[in-house]
Amino acid sequence: MAKTLFYNAALYSPVDEGCPKAGAGQGELARFPEGALLVENGLILAVGSESRVRSRTAEGESVEEVDCGGRCMVPGFVDPHTHICFAATREAEFGLRLEGTPYLEILRQGGGILSSVRAIGATGEEELYRSTMDRVKTALSLGTTSLEIKSGYGLDTDNELKMLRVIGRVAESAAQDVVATFLGAHAVPESYQARPDDFITHIIEEMLPAVSAQGIARFCDIFCEEGVFTIAQGRRLLRAARSHGMGLKIHADEVNDLGGAGLAAELGAISADHLLAANSKNLEAMAAAGVIATLLPATAYSLRKNYARARLMIEKKLPVALATDCNPGSSLTESMPFVIGLAVLNMEMTPAEALTGATLNAAYAIGIADRAGSLDAGKQADFLLLDGESPAILAYHAGVSPVASVYKKGRLM
Ligand code: NIG
Ligand code: FE
Repeated sequence: MAKTLFYNAALYSPVDEGCPKAGAGQGELARFPEGALLVENGLILAVGSESRVRSRTAEGESVEEVDCGGRCMVPGFVDPHTHICFAATREAEFGLRLEGTPYLEILRQGGGILSSVRAIGATGEEELYRSTMDRVKTALSLGTTSLEIKSGYGLDTDNELKMLRVIGRVAESAAQDVVATFLGAHAVPESYQARPDDFITHIIEEMLPAVSAQGIARFCDIFCEEGVFTIAQGRRLLRAARSHGMGLKIHADEVNDLGGAGLAAELGAISADHLLAANSKNLEAMAAAGVIATLLPATAYSLRKNYARARLMIEKKLPVALATDCNPGSSLTESMPFVIGLAVLNMEMTPAEALTGATLNAAYAIGIADRAGSLDAGKQADFLLLDGESPAILAYHAGVSPVASVYKKGRLM
């Protein structure tokens, strides 16, 4: 296949130096005002100033050229935390929340996640696949070129395996790279009400071996929260998941400071996610253990909570990743531009820090930085052209998508 040269771009990208970006590094981007990208077979051959990149092509060699029109070029977004595989939205519940019923109270009354569990039980695989693909395509149009998708609306072996099969099919047919996470411990199912320990035992003895044999899920996650699962239950499950070779993730300190961030540090999880209520001591433990803080500002927005303390985390040298949390309860959005806007305007991250959070650090948070997350030679040519001069346009032009073109493995989507 011929090489393609994308030129006349204002190019911005974090530089992958082999680990996620923390502290001052989170805001450092490579910047080429007259930038270019040379692509062959879907991979980046060279990146940098146009003159330098052009010198990488031989005299007389046939190279297809694409004029980027002076637009800003950034890596494709990696969305490292989604529940985008679900059967039905929950608009009535949104209404209840607007009238003041707390999110966890709706769950306590058998709604919330449990209502999504009933919907999964009543939905066939084909229909679930189609509605998930629709949302995954929406995400692609908004610049998401890789994403993580969790199970967690099955809560029994058959329905968790069914969700993971659907996620596996999506991974095969979607344009994006898709990473699957097993979230069997998303809520205590009705059949185990008041017996959460027994449910954890059931997951460890029956679900984990079946999920592991199925081979689709790469990570295991748990929702540690008041009225859901305790830290002790999280520790028990995640240790078992690790013995099956799965990477570890935690929904940590989303509403209450239970200590999920501390557990993530103790177990060396790849990420702890949410962290709205996490305490400083546990954030320091996370930084020492190299755990990525995956922040989900669209969830704070939708739940009308205080945002996670991104500035403090960056000061404490925690690598921060950003994700949509796309789900029918606490954050119904596929839009990484929206998340970046919230991160910049409501979590005081700079546009450069937010871009790193939505690309390179996010790729590390789901174990795909070898191929995605930055415009470095050797990685996939996953990139976006923005209708603007710099990544700041993502936060500045609110309520629309400044993503003008999306390229996955060098191909225009
Ligand atoms: O990340 N907190 C738990 N899980 C999701 C919400 C899932 C739902 O409400 O359907 C979250 O916020
Ligand atoms: Fe979530």
